[in-house]
Amino acid sequence: MRVLGIETSCDETGVAIYDTDRGLLSDTLYSQIAMHAEFGGVVPELASRDHTRKLLPLIQEVLDRAGLSRQDLDGIAYTAGPGLVGALMVGASTAHGMARALGIPVLGVHHMEGHLLAPMLEDEPPEFPFVALLVSGGHTQLVEVHGLGQYHLLGESVDDAAGEAFDKTAKMLDLAYPGGPEVARLAEQGDPLRFRFPRPMTDRPGLDFSFSGLKTHTLTTLNALRDSDQLDAQGRADIARAFEEAVVDTLVIKCRRALDQTGLKRLVVAGGVSANARLRERLGNEVAKRGARAYYPRGRFCTDNGAMIAYVGAQRLLAGEHDSEAMQAVPRWPL
Ligand code: KG4
Ligand code: ZN
Repeated sequence: MRVLGIETSCDETGVAIYDTDRGLLSDTLYSQIAMHAEFGGVVPELASRDHTRKLLPLIQEVLDRAGLSRQDLDGIAYTAGPGLVGALMVGASTAHGMARALGIPVLGVHHMEGHLLAPMLEDEPPEFPFVALLVSGGHTQLVEVHGLGQYHLLGESVDDAAGEAFDKTAKMLDLAYPGGPEVARLAEQGDPLRFRFPRPMTDRPGLDFSFSGLKTHTLTTLNALRDSDQLDAQGRADIARAFEEAVVDTLVIKCRRALDQTGLKRLVVAGGVSANARLRERLGNEVAKRGARAYYPRGRFCTDNGAMIAYVGAQRLLAGEHDSEAMQAVPRWPL
């Protein structure tokens, strides 16, 4: 079964074709980051307009690259949520319109399920069951995964997501949007011993996270340096480092706990923050110690993309699922 996947939940227009026999046939991505950067974050109305402008040409591009025409498609999957409602509706209406014209099934999929299963696109995909750490701009969740659609939430952030905390810290440090990679780059120059930031919610049992206090701690430290005229380049790098270490350490502690609690030996890490090199290094050491293994999507499939949506859609369409007449655009939707 050949499935076209469409991702338009936020600021990336992602399109891909996944074949259940041959794997990923082609994928492409248009990022709106440059357009939103001057506003310091995603402007929803501009995002929807840009998806509208880009989506059809990108669909043509993935078909051309795979040497296929629209008639060769057996199904269409799109991100139905969570995300920005206007942006979601661009993907949903395009998918439904195309599917209706072609007489093929169409299915709205959950964006976080896409992230969760993105490592399945790699050469050595994880087998079920596994623990998944989902760390993106909107979510921080630990999930026990037993199969397609068999997800048991172990814990999640009670306030900000890890990626959101990176983005807000970047703003405080006057770094560009999106902040995660920028903070990580600056942190490389930082002294890990100068400041020690709190590891929120690690001193009590449980697998929930909280990152908003860490953000306040970062701001307080920044202001204290500024007030004492010590906010030079090194000071900023030291803050970035202390922040990154605190987030990474918190995520590592909770992953360790989740592996112990479930007794599982496979850890999937996905979503934008899974691109973080320091997180990968620390988790790598941690799983090695327990004879476990960590699985990640390749770099460009850590952040939003069409391939993960095509993959999930293909699995579900193959199992006989599809939308009824109505398209779905669900801004808030638990996994
Ligand atoms: O999964 P994603 O592309 O979009 C959402 O579904 O939210 O994740 C984007 C998030 C942003 O907050 C971005 O700052 C963060 O992932 N991010 C990173 C890194 N690369 C992206 N955070 C830390 N380190 C990175 N290298
Ligand atoms: Zn995402």
